[in-house]
Amino acid sequence: MPGLFDELRSPWPYGAFSFYTSRPRSRPPRPRNRPSSPAEVLERLLEGLRGQVIEVGSGNGVSFSHYPFGVDEVLAVEPNALYRRRAVKAAAMSYVPIEVVPGHANSLPAPNASKDGAVISLLLCTVASPAEALAELHRVLRPGGELRFYEHVRADRPFPAWMQDTITPLWQRCFRGCHPNRDAVSAIEEAGFEIVAIIPFMLSWARFGPIAPRVIGRAIRPESAR
Ligand SMILES: C[S@@+](CC[C@H](N)C(=O)[O-])C[C@H]1O[C@@H](n2cnc3c(N)ncnc32)[C@H](O)[C@@H]1O
Repeated sequence: MPGLFDELRSPWPYGAFSFYTSRPRSRPPRPRNRPSSPAEVLERLLEGLRGQVIEVGSGNGVSFSHYPFGVDEVLAVEPNALYRRRAVKAAAMSYVPIEVVPGHANSLPAPNASKDGAVISLLLCTVASPAEALAELHRVLRPGGELRFYEHVRADRPFPAWMQDTITPLWQRCFRGCHPNRDAVSAIEEAGFEIVAIIPFMLSWARFGPIAPRVIGRAIRPESAR
């Protein structure tokens, strides 16, 4: 089965050094539907969302101005008080109503099946237990509701994955518990979500780093309970 990032493997001059080495030159050029800026990432992440939405680990509210009009209300859960204060300011500038509340991914302040959509952006790398966080997201989404995710992920080739494993102990000390080597996509599937769309890509500024391989995706909480 082809790896998530096969299409993106770069030709010279990066091939010899890149984590995602050597796409044969005969391959077609890189598809143009990859997001090329942080703002575009957020637009792609949130486009088409509707109804009641929960965003977990919303940080300083960087995503808020990208919520589309179809969203009725966003509950933004953020444990860090400083980020929350900034998020409240961002919420005041947003097109859609956004309530910023304290909370943790493993105990979300929302009833069962109460949300039409859930959003996570660079969260699963940081939480203590991705499985617990995803179980909570599964709980609060209604059957048929959508999880939108933007995460950096484990490389799909042995050498870069080994590099990520090697650097993780140091990296998580330097970057507030961030784990470059987590397989976020498998964790989402194992939590009972059905992935319906996924875009693997790399932001150019992160191309050589351990957090370079990224995905934006949509996953559904299936109608039949799992
Ligand atoms: C890398 S930042 C991403 C922030 C924002 N979502 C973005 O895309 O820029 C990770 C965020 O997750 C939050 N976070 C960390 N652990 C969390 C947890 N257990 N539950 C909820 N949020 C958490 C952090 O406070 C931080 O705001």
